[in-house]
Amino acid sequence: MLAKIKDILSGNYSDGEEIEVGGWVVKNRSSGKIVFTTIRDSTGEIQVTTKKGNVSDDDLMTADSLSLECSVRLKAKVRTDARAPGGKELVSTGIELVGCAQDYPIFGEGHNPEVLLDLRHLHVRSKELVAIMKVKDSVLNAAREWFRNNSFYEVTPPIIMSSSCEGGSTLFEIKYFDEKAYLSQSAQLYLESLIFGLENVYAITPSFRAEKSRTTRHLAEYWHIEAEMAWMGLYEMLNMLEDLVSYICNKTAEERAEEIRSLGSDPEYFLNLKPPFPRITYDDAIRILHEDGYRIQWGEDFGTHEERQLSMHYDKPLFITEYPLAVKAFYMKDAGNEKVLNVDMIGPKGFGEIIGGSERETDLGLLEGRLRKQGEDPSKYAWYLDLRRYGSVPHSGFGMGAERLVRWICGAEHIRDTIPYPRTISRLYP
Ligand code: 4AD
Ligand code: MG
Repeated sequence: MLAKIKDILSGNYSDGEEIEVGGWVVKNRSSGKIVFTTIRDSTGEIQVTTKKGNVSDDDLMTADSLSLECSVRLKAKVRTDARAPGGKELVSTGIELVGCAQDYPIFGEGHNPEVLLDLRHLHVRSKELVAIMKVKDSVLNAAREWFRNNSFYEVTPPIIMSSSCEGGSTLFEIKYFDEKAYLSQSAQLYLESLIFGLENVYAITPSFRAEKSRTTRHLAEYWHIEAEMAWMGLYEMLNMLEDLVSYICNKTAEERAEEIRSLGSDPEYFLNLKPPFPRITYDDAIRILHEDGYRIQWGEDFGTHEERQLSMHYDKPLFITEYPLAVKAFYMKDAGNEKVLNVDMIGPKGFGEIIGGSERETDLGLLEGRLRKQGEDPSKYAWYLDLRRYGSVPHSGFGMGAERLVRWICGAEHIRDTIPYPRTISRLYP
């Protein structure tokens, strides 16, 4: 078994112990009889010293010839050295070049972002993207853990769909044998059907949105953490959401403090985040925006600027509830008064919407009317409407964009860096 660099740095091996390590070259410099190589593996970086006399002349030549991103396997002795980064170094006793890397195309700083996106298959090994992927791994694991601890079942809804959940303007159409089909925008409608047997369900699936604009928070393909709860109203769901979000943030900050810090974000903030989160209504939000000099009219949905402005008043995620019915999806429960029982959770400091959810409309007639109003044919939703015919119960659910959450935790400027292979209007390769 190869030793892992993190274990070496944290003192799991004693001085002089001989171990084997595999990794990739980050830096290499030589002064003739001694070669200093920094290598990395998935867990960290360490300096390797290869000295004439400690290894064969062939191995010394190999060490001397190493260039950026060559993969190597080496035998070495652990040495504590206060001057070495991390306080430990490896003294090589044998080195094998496993895969050479000539003229690795990503070196130094200041690359054009488009060039890096073309080289994404290589850039995914960069320190920054690796740190973000580790944060995402913690986020997804923490979410699953929370659901499991709270009596949710993980389910596997379809991705290929015969109708839309979030409206036609962002639907990706695909050819499905001789029929038209669509890529899922949300598993919600199917999750709703599954609460009748399982009561509390969640799914983590890809969702697709044909977003035609370039923004720093929209992807055409993203990972969607969605849940649906029987017997739950909107306000009970808010309690649940602040608990879930706090849990994910606390756990991720605990596991990935170093990565979060290296990305320029603050692990302490996420470690200490806890309920309650501030709650305002859409009406309150309009009032705040007017006080701040915004010209938005009652009835308009919030865009990036409005969400940013609202979030500036709070240092925690903000729940905004009860939006105008006219701007929201057909399935959100009518609250009377032209509003719906919905919630958007807005991240602080302009990170924008991270969660969208609602209590669901259970009235069959109202649902059919709302579908028609949105230009949909209710007969395409016959199966969904059946759910209101057979043992319907009050229920609520939400969707959380995994990349939106990771972007906030990492303080990433652009959402594309929170997914290894971003799909946007202008990018499908690699
Ligand atoms: O607000 P949305 O559109 O709500 C739904 O899809 C509901 N059916 C979810 C549900 O109740 N089960 O999307 C939910 C979340 C947003 O808050 C946002 O975090 C994320 O999905 N999201 C996107 N993330 C990245 N790129 C996009 N284009 C996104 N669109 C939505
Ligand atoms: Mg939304």
